[in-house]
Amino acid sequence: MGHLKFVNGFSRWTKREKIAWLREHYLRNKPGSVEKLRLYWHQDEAEQALFDELIENVIGNYYLPFAIAPNFLINGEVYAVPMVTEESSVVAAASKAAKFWYRYGGFRAEVTGKIKTGHIHLIYKGNPLRLYDFFNRHKAEYLKRLKPFTERMDARGGGILSVQLEDQTLHIPGYYVIGFQFDTVDSMGANFINTVLEEWAEYMEEDYAREFGDGNLEIVLRILSNYNPSCKVRVEVQAPVESLETGMAPYEYVQRFKLAVDMARVNIFRAVTHNKGIMNGVDAVVLATGNDFRAVEAGAHAHAVRDGVYRSLSEAEVSDGIFRFGMEIPLALGTVGGMTRLHPMAQVALDILQNPSAEMLMKIVAATGLAQNFSAIHSLVTEGIQKGHMKMHLNNILRQLDATEEERRLLRDYFTNKKVHVKGVKEKLDEIRQKKDENF
Ligand code: MEV
Repeated sequence: MGHLKFVNGFSRWTKREKIAWLREHYLRNKPGSVEKLRLYWHQDEAEQALFDELIENVIGNYYLPFAIAPNFLINGEVYAVPMVTEESSVVAAASKAAKFWYRYGGFRAEVTGKIKTGHIHLIYKGNPLRLYDFFNRHKAEYLKRLKPFTERMDARGGGILSVQLEDQTLHIPGYYVIGFQFDTVDSMGANFINTVLEEWAEYMEEDYAREFGDGNLEIVLRILSNYNPSCKVRVEVQAPVESLETGMAPYEYVQRFKLAVDMARVNIFRAVTHNKGIMNGVDAVVLATGNDFRAVEAGAHAHAVRDGVYRSLSEAEVSDGIFRFGMEIPLALGTVGGMTRLHPMAQVALDILQNPSAEMLMKIVAATGLAQNFSAIHSLVTEGIQKGHMKMHLNNILRQLDATEEERRLLRDYFTNKKVHVKGVKEKLDEIRQKKDENF
């Protein structure tokens, strides 16, 4: 009777109606789920209304922890970096790396480009010369017609930087792309870009039909691109090898570290995991500041495979007695508009970061990604990843085992210098509980 669950007009129901329907069809044998949903509603109705309107069919709020990684020295300024993530060890790892590199002058970051892109994808079945001629004749006029949509961005020092017609017929017969380059200043610019593209496409369709009326032009897509190879930031740390205090002989350490990074440059299994470690840091700041982490993810992985082979985003080098570790990553971010200002916690995050420009945020995000990568590789080439990870994960295990405050304290003490694994924690907890029973 699965078809009884098919529903029409769901989005027009009130939140309470939606929940009643869910209870009826999906949560019948799940006592507590509906109460849990309500428990996480905001007590202040106006605050809750903001979230209710962000997306369709909202029934509750989904919490993630909002944390701080302090001591990020970036180009001489110290930042406390807000991070939102569910992974236990991520913030601890970022903080540890930030503190470590603080001693060596911190992170140097530089934005190497801020150009964003968008495209009109079309099929043209006529004589290509006619299309090129049409495009060239109308280009300046369309840029002028777009002024009402671009003047605010122009006034902020951004706008449309260039536009050109590109031949893609090698891949698909009749396929052409009108490529746009934009500077969206401090905004992520998605709405601005898409509006420009849709307007341009409309002018073009109308004019072409009026001038030729031959049905040869078909505009298929008008959309920004999340591949922004010219919207990038470079971040680096460096230190004299001899000065590195890592608990290992310095040259042995950097040699192993570099090997680990080099492996991720040639082996895709390692590369993907290596880059996932970078994205642990990147996404957490992107999310905290109300930016689009899916856009950043897609762009970063495309960059990682730019020469046809998927490689690590970061690279390590040892020369003239200096250890250098850095990466270049495309980051299309904003600090004004959209979610960055709408989400109350994103506002707090940006306040903590001293209301940075988009460029500064790019540097902070990249530094956090590199810090995360440094910590992961440091653990991997020294004690292994599980010790630190499971130490942070201990709290989650204890919660799952319903440990009391007292039991948690005892177990945290017990596992301070020991490897944490679920079986070991469970055994020790049983032992503590047994002892307690015997003492009664
Ligand atoms: C875990 O979330 C991330 C790591 O696997 C990254 C890496 O292996 O470099 C530790």
